[in-house]
Amino acid sequence: MTNALAGTSDETLPDFPMPRAAGCPFAPPPEMLKLHAEKPVSKVRLWDGSVHWLVTRYDDQKALYGDQRLSVDTSRQGFPYANEAFRNSVIKAPPSFLNMDDPDHARIRRMVTAPFAIKRIEALRPAIQAMTDSLIDAMLDGPKPANLVEAFSLPLPSLVICALLGVPYEDHDFFQENSSVGLRRDVKPEEVRAATMAQLAYLERQLDAKVVTPADDMLSDIAARMDAGDLTRSEASMLGVLLLGAGHETSANMIALGVLALLEHPDQLAIIRDTDDPKVLANASEEMLRYLTIVHMGQRRLALEDVEVGGQLIRAGEGVIIPGATGNWEADQFPDPDRLDVTRDARRHMAFGFGIHQCLGQPLARLELQIAYQTLFRRIPTLRLATEMEKLPFKNDGLVYGVYELPVTW
Ligand code: HEM
Repeated sequence: MTNALAGTSDETLPDFPMPRAAGCPFAPPPEMLKLHAEKPVSKVRLWDGSVHWLVTRYDDQKALYGDQRLSVDTSRQGFPYANEAFRNSVIKAPPSFLNMDDPDHARIRRMVTAPFAIKRIEALRPAIQAMTDSLIDAMLDGPKPANLVEAFSLPLPSLVICALLGVPYEDHDFFQENSSVGLRRDVKPEEVRAATMAQLAYLERQLDAKVVTPADDMLSDIAARMDAGDLTRSEASMLGVLLLGAGHETSANMIALGVLALLEHPDQLAIIRDTDDPKVLANASEEMLRYLTIVHMGQRRLALEDVEVGGQLIRAGEGVIIPGATGNWEADQFPDPDRLDVTRDARRHMAFGFGIHQCLGQPLARLELQIAYQTLFRRIPTLRLATEMEKLPFKNDGLVYGVYELPVTW
């Protein structure tokens, strides 16, 4: 299959990703919003000069997410890679089910869905609340200002996913550092390869130990499946790498960036802090997810057959990029989308994607966000930024958006 866009030489095509406007760290890039308004299915050029389709409207995005004629298999020729390191590492490393099509995707995903069921996750509430409180205790006992990323937003989801998987939290420096390598846009291919291989080797050791001494955790279940031959060794360890990485990085970014957004919107912060109604709190977290849409490099797909979307024919072999932020900031779906309004009904947002690859960990992420935002502002009502907003290091160079550091005081 050849990419019909491969020979496109029009130098005037916009580059993707596009920069955010200075001073507007929460809004999607203006150029992307303009395309959404004027040419919702349009061609963009990537880092390697390759040309792909950018699909920006909510309904079109939803249709494509649900369309199995589009593949997530990154080993296929013409796939719209985020960077060279990604292209290099995905070709060499075994894929996770995030990058597999059905039936392989469904076969592996099914093995790990039960622990993420809403009821099972809800049962973790007291434990997550206790972890949240003890991190806040430690922060309050420590020096001021504190870096909220280091003291709170990164350790909380890391502690939670470690407990769920049965990975020792003492190893957090190792896995946080290695999984963040793969999320940098400017990283060298050999760095990603080394980080991926180190994580795979680490997970293999963990799985081998669980085969010998199983416990009541997810890695023990995965190890048992590996031992029974339901999963190959590389499928099992890649599954562990995916769950460990996806389980802490994304939530960590949502917590830190969300805290910043709430500090900038004190009226919305007060609603979250003061409500005793779990429904109000749950609804508010959905709006935070919509407003920030932190997976900001777009979900990537490759058309396996000709597909028509928004009146445009996408041919077999052409790449498709679906930037969740434009759909989530579409006024027809979410009136005044640039307004953070935690009382609006934002449940239809697609910050977790949609369709068969929709985020597996979403019940866990939701619970973490609800507990983290409310507990932090209740326990530290005077929490405030300890620097100017303009000085904050935003993850514009990351595949997932957020802040590298968030200095706060109280
Ligand atoms: C606020 C936090 C989170 C956000 C915004 C988020 C976002 C996403 C998105 C957009 C996708 C779809 C990717 C695609 O369609 O190509 C996804 C998939 C996935 N997420 Fe999350 N995620 C979050 C937290 C988590 C957590 C806590 C876990 C726990 C392990 C997790 C595990 C996964 C997995 C395993 C997939 C792959 C699903 C599949 O391919 O079937 N995520 N996530």
